[in-house]
Amino acid sequence: MNPSEMPVLTDAELKLLQALVYQECGMHFDGRRTHFLQDRLQRRLKECQLDSFYSYYRLLISEHGKQELSRLLENLTVNETSFFRNKAQLELFQREVLEDLFHRKQARRDYSVRIWSAGCSTGQEPYTIAMLVADSLAYYYMRNPLPFDTPLPKPLIPAPWRVEILASDINYSVLRAAQEGSYNEHQMSMVDYTYRLRYFDKVGDRYAVKKGLKELVHFDFHNLKTEYLPQRNDVIFCRNVMMYFDEAEQKRLVEKFYRCLNAHGFLFVGHAESLLGLTERFQMVHQNSGTAYQRVEVKM
Ligand SMILES: C[S@@+](CC[C@H](N)C(=O)[O-])C[C@H]1O[C@@H](n2cnc3c(N)ncnc32)[C@H](O)[C@@H]1O
Repeated sequence: MNPSEMPVLTDAELKLLQALVYQECGMHFDGRRTHFLQDRLQRRLKECQLDSFYSYYRLLISEHGKQELSRLLENLTVNETSFFRNKAQLELFQREVLEDLFHRKQARRDYSVRIWSAGCSTGQEPYTIAMLVADSLAYYYMRNPLPFDTPLPKPLIPAPWRVEILASDINYSVLRAAQEGSYNEHQMSMVDYTYRLRYFDKVGDRYAVKKGLKELVHFDFHNLKTEYLPQRNDVIFCRNVMMYFDEAEQKRLVEKFYRCLNAHGFLFVGHAESLLGLTERFQMVHQNSGTAYQRVEVKM
């Protein structure tokens, strides 16, 4: 199909498709982002060899259109990410949040730590979290040893601690790449040699996440728009995801995160995102230029 034969996207069709995308995944394509949506819709229409956007809409809402719907959503997500993104925030996570969490847990003899990276893209965020938690726990253990023997060679996570990092996304192709855990030199630019040495194997010209670190992270599909989301988390990272949602959807998501967190749990959002005006159920904590939000507990 040459461009002059491309069906025209009418305002009515655009509105239908905008509403469908919003309803399915929460992404909001307003004025500035309409162009991007139009471009991706045109590509999918061509791929499906359909002659109108209305037929494409009918396909998406049909029983056998599920696969095409997830393909469209994959084409609409922005998957930009990097290792050690927003260092000030990660320092706050390591120095304050994890210390506080380990102390509170140890006092209750609860040795399980559960962290969720919601919107994990190609895996750099959850693997960064895994490296920071493993290092912090080893250092915490050194200062607060438990009356148990540690087997040799020392495991990445000292017993009886258990660390589970859940990483989820709506995009299956980024989840596959994340699960593979193999990165090129450019993607590794923020990973210094001490981390490279301990947590990666060099395979050809790529860096593969070591087995021990990989085993801490579990990847899964979760659409943040749905009600059924992973519960009982100590910390949630949802960075650079909410910025694609409108205010109503952001409010709904923050409420869901509140319920998905354990008491006193923490939520980290992106550098350009904030909970200001969205909720009263979290209080901001910050150190240097790093920011996080802690669940406010209702006093009985
Ligand atoms: C810009 S990336 C951010 C990656 C990482 N959190 C970071 O800050 O580096 C945003 C990710 O959110 C995912 N995403 C967008 N909408 C989503 C939804 N409704 N449910 C789950 N993931 C979603 C996208 O597929 C994408 O991988």
